[in-house]
Amino acid sequence: MNTPWTLAQRAERMNPSVIREILKVTEKPGIISFAGGLPSTETFPVDAFAKACEQVLHGHGLESGRASLQYAASEGFAPLREWVAASLPWAVDPAQVLITTGSQQGLDLVGKVLIDAGSRVLVETPTYLGALQAFSPMEPVIEGVASDAGGVDVAALLEQLGAGADHPESLERRRLLTLDLDPVANPQAAPRFLYVLPNFQNPTGRSMDLPRRQALVAAAARLGLPLVEDNPYGDLWFDQPPPTPLTALNPDGCIYLGSFSKILAPGLRLGFLVAPPSVYPKLLQAKQAADLHSPSFNQRVVAEVIKDGFLDRHIPTIRALYKRQCHAMLDALKTEMAGLDVQWNEPDGGMFLWVRLPEGMSAIELLPKAVEQNVAFVPGSAFYADHADPRTLRLSFVTANVEQIRTGIAALARAIRSSH
Ligand SMILES: Cc1ncc(COP(=O)(O)O)c(C=O)c1O
Repeated sequence: MNTPWTLAQRAERMNPSVIREILKVTEKPGIISFAGGLPSTETFPVDAFAKACEQVLHGHGLESGRASLQYAASEGFAPLREWVAASLPWAVDPAQVLITTGSQQGLDLVGKVLIDAGSRVLVETPTYLGALQAFSPMEPVIEGVASDAGGVDVAALLEQLGAGADHPESLERRRLLTLDLDPVANPQAAPRFLYVLPNFQNPTGRSMDLPRRQALVAAAARLGLPLVEDNPYGDLWFDQPPPTPLTALNPDGCIYLGSFSKILAPGLRLGFLVAPPSVYPKLLQAKQAADLHSPSFNQRVVAEVIKDGFLDRHIPTIRALYKRQCHAMLDALKTEMAGLDVQWNEPDGGMFLWVRLPEGMSAIELLPKAVEQNVAFVPGSAFYADHADPRTLRLSFVTANVEQIRTGIAALARAIRSSH
């Protein structure tokens, strides 16, 4: 009766995901949703999973079947860790691979292990909302780094960290000078890391080219700034694979996050991280405390599905589908937005594109009008750590089919015209 529950301060920093709230609206019958980042269910390889489940439970003997239902090692299922290590384009020891419960858990573990209350954390502008949500309870000061259509603006990053051309003092020196100072009281204290999405970024769909990657990794190494590289979309390229991961350029300076959500199925909740030996043990301990291990059964089923090159056949079908849907959306935007001062980018892969509304318009104010027209999107302001651009919004081109994309973009144009 009336028990006085006192919530932790960190709970105050947990906000309902704007996306989840919007997804509720999109459950309205008949609505075409470009809002959620839900992979197309058409791409889920149901038959391959059915066979693999049978194989895991019965195909390798009773003991193996039983083991798939037992508690298991926190690091993950060894054959899956080996597969992950072998699949990455730099030398990865399977001992550096930690299987996570989705890459979202990787973000949570990184936050727990690297962030103190008041720590500076750098993110792209804009960035993945789920990362902001994972880091925020650790009470960091999250700062956006200036970014453009090609990702992080490296010169601006150097300026922000007081290490630009006009600042001969390096961040490493500042770190030494400020090591024992409170970062809140002393904003010059070294950031714990920069969180970066070089491939088909969520929310913008943009990518970093090779020179930009090289410049960023070189700058980060010079500054002693750790990088957290999140790459759930890298395999979803349309015409050519993206350049090398940042981590491949400096494995010791990066934590790399990957996921099976976009190439197999998100309901599996399986991802992984690769971390240098200096941080891996702490991430593992955080993982043990969080959930002991990711589901043994799912790990074994995925290992069974992918062991014989299945993904080499499967992923191209996802790429082809998403490319078709992306082009349908771009064509529809060209036709329907004619005469309106609406801008958008043309991604080379992934699941999203980024739209900027005409001067003076707000995506948050547009949303209810769009929902009246039976179409939904995510207002861009959800994705900014600071200084949100109210004119921006994110469109996913993977959940709706081509016909729905055409209808939905026409509805969006009507909503924009009616509020212009
Ligand atoms: C950039 C980014 N990182 C991580 C995740 C989380 O993915 P997972 O399903 O692997 O937890 C997502 C999901 O949409 C994402 O867009």
